[in-house]
Amino acid sequence: MKSSKLVIVGVGNVGSAVLNCALSLGLASEIAIIDIKEKKARGEALDSSHALPYALHPNVNIRAGSFAECTDADVIIIAAGPSILPEEASKDRLALAGKNIAVMKDVMTSITQYTKEAVIIMITNPLDIMVYYAQNFFGYPKNKILGTGTTLETARFKQIIASHYDLDPKNVHGYILGEHGNSAFAAWSLVNIAAIPAARLNEYFPADQPLDFNKTAAQVIQVAYDVLNSKGWTNSGIAMAACRIARAVLFNERSIFPVSTTLEGEYGLTGVALSLPCVIAAEGVRQRLEVPLADDEAAKLTASAANLKNVIKSVGL
Ligand code: 2OP
Repeated sequence: MKSSKLVIVGVGNVGSAVLNCALSLGLASEIAIIDIKEKKARGEALDSSHALPYALHPNVNIRAGSFAECTDADVIIIAAGPSILPEEASKDRLALAGKNIAVMKDVMTSITQYTKEAVIIMITNPLDIMVYYAQNFFGYPKNKILGTGTTLETARFKQIIASHYDLDPKNVHGYILGEHGNSAFAAWSLVNIAAIPAARLNEYFPADQPLDFNKTAAQVIQVAYDVLNSKGWTNSGIAMAACRIARAVLFNERSIFPVSTTLEGEYGLTGVALSLPCVIAAEGVRQRLEVPLADDEAAKLTASAANLKNVIKSVGL
């Protein structure tokens, strides 16, 4: 395993799933976890160390620590702050903005005391608001902060389409873009399987029923709430998404994921963070891609940005 250091900030349901996922993937040789509940962090570190003797990559130094651990971190994954609860599931992630801005202020202030070198991967919701805040108010290099964004919705999208046609989800290409949340949208004009465009999939792949585009796009948003209402939180999908992006950084993959960053004029938009396909490499975000969108998709992106800008304004950023 490559010698590298991962720090996870916040080890609730999401952070502890990130820890387990990082261990299974052999992501880093050192993992430090930080939580406001220090006892909980110590317990998580100790418990997961007991997985090492049977793990594929057993030589990992796992420990609970303070923000000083960030000094020599390669990647920091932030999963701190309260998550959306099932009883809030009828609202949306944006309702957490006020509460989690305060959490992020503490977290970013603490991190920046020790480093401006590590690549920060944000998970905390409302994701795009947290990314916008972290990227624009702490003097941290902008390319070194990104949010998991619609990498998670894109995984849900690929899984729904793949199971509809009984195919391997790796062969479903395409993106959900925009907000990580209710205004995320499917860029159907870019979707393909084996270079067969979305409009012709039903011709090529037998299924009980044709794939319904509108229903599929709505299902991508709804499934998060289905998970929340059934088990109380979501953590497996997001943990894999965050670790997959972290791997792209740690192994300088130059892989492309739809991650959230502050736009700088793409599609005529500024002053807002949302997800577009980005090239992820050792330095973080190497390139943000202004991919060609159909007119209705560009309109949905603009609407998603407007929705997020309203929240940015409402919390006084
Ligand atoms: C998710 O989409 C709730 O943002 C979280 O799983």
